[in-house]
Amino acid sequence: MTDTAVAAPSTDWADPSRPVPDLRTELPGPRTREVVAGDQAVTSPSLPRAYPFAPQRARGCRIEDVDGNLFLDFNAGIAVNSTGHAHPEVVRAVQDQAADLLHYSASDFFLPAYSQMCRALAATAPMSEPVRVFLTNSGAEAVEGALKLARYATKRPYVISFYGAFHGRTMGAVSLTSSKPKYHQGFGPLLPGVIHVPYADPAKVAAGHAEEDTATFDALETIFRHDVAPSEVAAIFVEPIQGEGGYIVPGEGWMRRLRELCDEHGILLVADEVQCGMGRTGTMWAIEQTGVEPDMLLSAKGIASGLPLGAFMARASLMESWGVGTHGSTYGGSPVPCAAGLATLRVIESEGLLAHAREVGDRILAGLREIQARHPEAVVDVRGVGLMIGVEFADGALSGAVQQAAFERGLLVLEAGESVVRMSPPLVVTLEEAEIGLRLFGEAVAAAADRRG
Ligand SMILES: Cc1ncc(COP(=O)(O)O)c(C=O)c1O
Repeated sequence: MTDTAVAAPSTDWADPSRPVPDLRTELPGPRTREVVAGDQAVTSPSLPRAYPFAPQRARGCRIEDVDGNLFLDFNAGIAVNSTGHAHPEVVRAVQDQAADLLHYSASDFFLPAYSQMCRALAATAPMSEPVRVFLTNSGAEAVEGALKLARYATKRPYVISFYGAFHGRTMGAVSLTSSKPKYHQGFGPLLPGVIHVPYADPAKVAAGHAEEDTATFDALETIFRHDVAPSEVAAIFVEPIQGEGGYIVPGEGWMRRLRELCDEHGILLVADEVQCGMGRTGTMWAIEQTGVEPDMLLSAKGIASGLPLGAFMARASLMESWGVGTHGSTYGGSPVPCAAGLATLRVIESEGLLAHAREVGDRILAGLREIQARHPEAVVDVRGVGLMIGVEFADGALSGAVQQAAFERGLLVLEAGESVVRMSPPLVVTLEEAEIGLRLFGEAVAAAADRRG
């Protein structure tokens, strides 16, 4: 097989009675090995591939590789396939829209699907003022747009983000990012005017001492006293739950304190919900659970169940501060991704996926805490909200070994931060699939911990 060839479908691949996982070759299988070899000769070595998995086709939470091995997918394409793989309503919406109109630039003309998607998203915004929306192709572009709007509207040069944050790879977004030095190394000078401060401390939250978690506010106070006047700061960009940095959930009151600080100094609060939004935490937006309203909210990933779409929403009065031609995009909010986005919102509503994410997420969290109790020396922390769940291990070697051992057993999970394995399954994951995932993950932890001795 060449790397462009398509594997022959296994005849029973979509049969719901086929057990999952169902591994029929050694891993990686022969076709996967060919795909990997062909890929590595021609793709950019910068791509951070986690393990040799070459997907071919998928439905719901089940994904088959090019060798016909069936895996349980707790990655969802990295928190993207929110309604599951190939949800029939999303597929139908994409097919119908593709047959009608593949593309026209919404920046230059009036595209019905674009304004429908903006209206549908605005209706979900956790803001009491009316909201305006700008659609993009990705999370990083949503960050870039929000960054530009924040500076433009406030006429202030500085922006603040957090250690451990991930906001994307484009020059502005990567300047806000601060999860690994290699994201910056060699790319400087980065965007001037970006300041990083500590994020919430998961150890304090786990120990039940969230009220002692003041590092963020101490650092901001020091910066405002000695370095940059708060009246020079346009915005604070914050992930309400830090994603790539290790699935960190701030303690009660942390986000409220941040909001109060922003209000005191006229600083915009920008919630980056690219990873934690779109129902993943059991509410449409994670920040809803903190009782705080952001001034802007960014989305991408799960917004269109797998098609490239992103968005930044802002209070209307804020978005109205820039005029014609100040920002645009040829592809952002193209009709097919918008059709997928509208179908995604309909499915989240009609299938009750927010409540479902809470119910299944609670079961997974409880199951993981049982695994932690069996391996207290290996598992340092289990945390998360809804279906955004992280398991922190004693060190990065262990989390890497668990990720690999899970893969070998047919469960797809992915590391985050320095020593965390994250679970971000599709929101449609069933309780039965959750139990299978927990069993496989428990076996993977036991194998990795035993090997460690
Ligand atoms: C919180 C957050 N913001 C922004 C991004 C960048 O999104 P994209 O990869 O679509 O550019 C990511 C990607 O992981 C993310 O997790």
